[in-house]
Amino acid sequence: MTVISRPAIERIAFLREFLRHPFTVAAVTPSSGPLADTITASVPATGSPTVVELGPGTGAFTAAVQRRLAGRGRHVAIEINERFAAPLAMRFPQVDVVVGDAAHLRDVLQRHGLGHADVIVSGLPWAAFAAERQDDLLGAVTEVLAPDGVFTTFAYTATLWAPPAVRLRRSLHARFEEVVPGRTVWANFPPALVYYCRRPRTPFSSMPV
Ligand SMILES: C[S@@+](CC[C@H](N)C(=O)[O-])C[C@H]1O[C@@H](n2cnc3c(N)ncnc32)[C@H](O)[C@@H]1O
Repeated sequence: MTVISRPAIERIAFLREFLRHPFTVAAVTPSSGPLADTITASVPATGSPTVVELGPGTGAFTAAVQRRLAGRGRHVAIEINERFAAPLAMRFPQVDVVVGDAAHLRDVLQRHGLGHADVIVSGLPWAAFAAERQDDLLGAVTEVLAPDGVFTTFAYTATLWAPPAVRLRRSLHARFEEVVPGRTVWANFPPALVYYCRRPRTPFSSMPV
């Protein structure tokens, strides 16, 4: 009997969902382990942080966040596609997996009794979004990110000069005082880099929980 490995099943599921929803999945294969390690390096090694993940897909970043948290803090993952969310919730019972739009981040956190996020890790396909949508989603991020929190997101290096990627960079600089690009992660298909964004410019007020 042939046994298919979980990564292979995830790659097939990912490709299938890309074919169904090309503009929300916007990638043909899940992110690699090296990109997952790079983007989740923002999760602190101590304390009890609230980590929010946007667009977890088949869970490439989810697994890395869970490894770093090692049982500490909270981990909420918001995924718009139910076909990704259902298996993710089964695989990671310690993660609060929410089927929904990342634009409703504030409501999701409130429903989970959380007033803010310390770390937000995004797997969202920014390049596939129109300007207004990008802006709404970034606004939702800065609305809940703690003043000393960190937002990480990635971009494919081959398309860094395409208009949506340029627009994303401008928006990140408009919304954060510090935006630091990491090194290219060559061991990803396609190669990508991570932006580490700190000190949101918009005033944050803790939400009643
Ligand atoms: C490029 S894939 C990344 C998946 C995974 N993080 C990875 O790196 O392998 C984008 C993911 O974002 C999800 N997504 C797209 N728009 C979303 C939204 N508005 N809210 C939540 N998830 C969204 C898609 O369904 C998909 O799972």
